[in-house]
Parts: sequence; structure tokens; C-alpha cells
Amino acid sequence: MKSLVLLIVVAFAVGASAQCNPCSTMKWATCDGTNCQCVLRVSSDGPGIPLNCSALIPKCFLMKAEMYRARTGQSTRSSGKPTEHAFVDNDGIYDPDCEANGRFKAKQCNNTNECWCVNSAGVRRTDKGDKDSIKCEELVETIWVRLQLKHKPTGAPVDPTALRQAIGDAISKRYGVDGKLVNNTEYDKDARLIMVDVVKPKTDRTTDLSRAAYYMEKDVKILPLFTGEAKFLPTVGSQTLDFEDIVVYYVDEKPPTFTMKRLTGGVIAVIVVVILAVAAGLLVLFFARRRNRARYEKTQPREMDEMQ
Ligand SMILES: *[C@@H]1O[C@H](CO)[C@@H](O)[C@H](O)[C@H]1NC(C)=O
Ligand SMILES: *[C@@H]1O[C@H](CO)[C@@H](O)[C@H](O)[C@H]1NC(C)=O
Ligand SMILES: *[C@@H]1O[C@H](CO)[C@@H](O)[C@H](O)[C@H]1NC(C)=O
Repeated sequence: MKSLVLLIVVAFAVGASAQCNPCSTMKWATCDGTNCQCVLRVSSDGPGIPLNCSALIPKCFLMKAEMYRARTGQSTRSSGKPTEHAFVDNDGIYDPDCEANGRFKAKQCNNTNECWCVNSAGVRRTDKGDKDSIKCEELVETIWVRLQLKHKPTGAPVDPTALRQAIGDAISKRYGVDGKLVNNTEYDKDARLIMVDVVKPKTDRTTDLSRAAYYMEKDVKILPLFTGEAKFLPTVGSQTLDFEDIVVYYVDEKPPTFTMKRLTGGVIAVIVVVILAVAAGLLVLFFARRRNRARYEKTQPREMDEMQ
């Protein structure tokens, strides 16, 4: 009799857990128990972090989960074909220390004796230093993120006005960013670059821009963090835009305090590449203008004829 009761209880528990909806904003979460609480595993012991699946998950928790999954040999992608850019991500990821509410602690050490200070997006904003000598008085707020998206070639040209509208709408809808904060969108059709500025008022301490930026980075570079794997594919008119790259710039309330002297090889390489790219850009511009001028001189008389 006792075992029958046990069996029924177990069956009920299994049934209950099967009835929980998945966490829509985090595909790695597990949801069970009588109240279907979703939790995110970030270590092999302990119950995991309880999540609010009605909102984007704090980036600090996501990074912890990614580091845990990498340590235990679990994929940070899920099944399905990764995009061609699947390998360029994860640069600079570390195992962060999070507050209970998911905010980053101002000082991060990646479980080593070398520490640095981060902004509210968890991005390093000071030099690295010894555990005891680095002081991070406060978590400096990131108040502006610039998302620079590159889309794949499209069959027909994209209407810039419709595009700006569509991108703003898509960002609000998918990442829950207040449309009022998407304050500027630029489109360069030759470079296929869309630049979106998301800026919050300095006094706003509740909006966390880093979450939307991180979800978008994953959407573009690897695979969505959302359950269901629906990709980020905004439509402009009759065209669907697919993206191939994203660069996120962070602007903090206070400027970062890197010193040039201690630039690492990687950063120097980036700066060199940027300088080379600018030089190449100037050259291209120079030749393009020369060519344009030549064409202008040639075509001008015919245009004059047509006008007469
Ligand atoms: C979960 O997030 C939603 C949307 O941001 C919010 O309205 C709600 O209060 C949150 N719930 C809890 C328990 O924090
Ligand atoms: C943090 O540590 C891990 C290994 O423990 C390493 O792979 C990763 O590059 C480190 N990240 C940073 C930003 O130092
Ligand atoms: C967007 O915000 C930035 C930073 O606050 C500001 O400099 C810029 O003028 C704003 N642009 C628009 C179009 O509101």
C-alpha cells in the first residue's frame, strides 16, 4: 500500500514537472516543482539560480552559466547548425561574481589573483591588477550601447527609412527595450551596416541595457538564448534581414580608466587593424572621388543636351 502511494506521488511529480512550460527567455533553464520555478545551473552543486522568465536574464547569470557549461563539456550552443561565425564569440568571457539580483560585482577576478573593475554590462573598464591593490568603489553604469549590425546581402536594395523603423520595432519587440530608448539608427547601404544607439536617461537605474545587447550578440553570432530557437530576422517590406556580424560599443556614465602604457598585445593589434582599415578607407574614398569626378566630367555634357 505504502509503495503504491509512493508510486502515485512519484507519477504525480513527474507529471507535474512535465507540465511546466519552458523558460521562454533561457533555453538552458530547467523548470519544475509544484510552482514550476525555472532555475539556471551555474555549478555542479547547489540548486541553481531562480529565474524570472518574463524578462531577459541578467548577463552576469548568463555568463556564469556559460562558464559552467564550458567547464563541464556541455555545449553553449544547442543542436542545430551553428552559423559561420560560431567560433569568433566567447572572447573575453570570464566567470563573473554576481549580486543576488543579477548585477555584476564591480570587481571581477575570474577566480584568479588578477582582478579588474567592470561596468554594469560586465565589461572591463580599468587595467588589470593584483587582487589586493585593485579597488573598485562602485559599479559604473552603462548608459548607452551602440549596436553595429552587418546584414547579409539582400536580393533587392533595402529602403533605409523602412529599415530604421523595422529595426527599432524588432528590438523593442524581441528584447523588450522601450522604443523611446532607441534614439538613433543609421544605415550605410554600401557597407550593409546598421547602427543603433540605445541610450537611457542618466537617472534610470532599472533598465539594464547589457541584457538586450547580450541577447542580440548571441542571436547574431551563435544561436538565440531564447527557447524555441526562432532567429532574429526583422522584415523590411517584403525582405527578411539576416545578420552576419555585430559589434557592441559600451558608453559608461564615467569614462574608463585604461592606461595606454599597459595595452595588451591584443588591443594593440586591434588598434593597428583599425588604423590600417581607416587608411584603406581613405584610399578607396580618394580613388572613388577621382573616378566620380572623371565620370561627372564625361556625362555632364549629355545631361545638358537632354535638358535643352
Ligand atoms: C519578472 O519580470 C517582469 C517583467 O520585467 C516583472 O513585471 C515582474 O515583476 C518580475 N517578477 C518578479 C517576481 O520579479
Ligand atoms: C577566465 O578564465 C578562463 C579559464 O578559467 C579563461 O578561459 C578565460 O579566458 C578567462 N577570462 C578572462 C577575461 O580572463
Ligand atoms: C541620442 O542620445 C545621445 C546621447 O545622449 C545624444 O548625444 C544624441 O543627440 C541623441 N540623439 C537623438 C536623435 O536623440
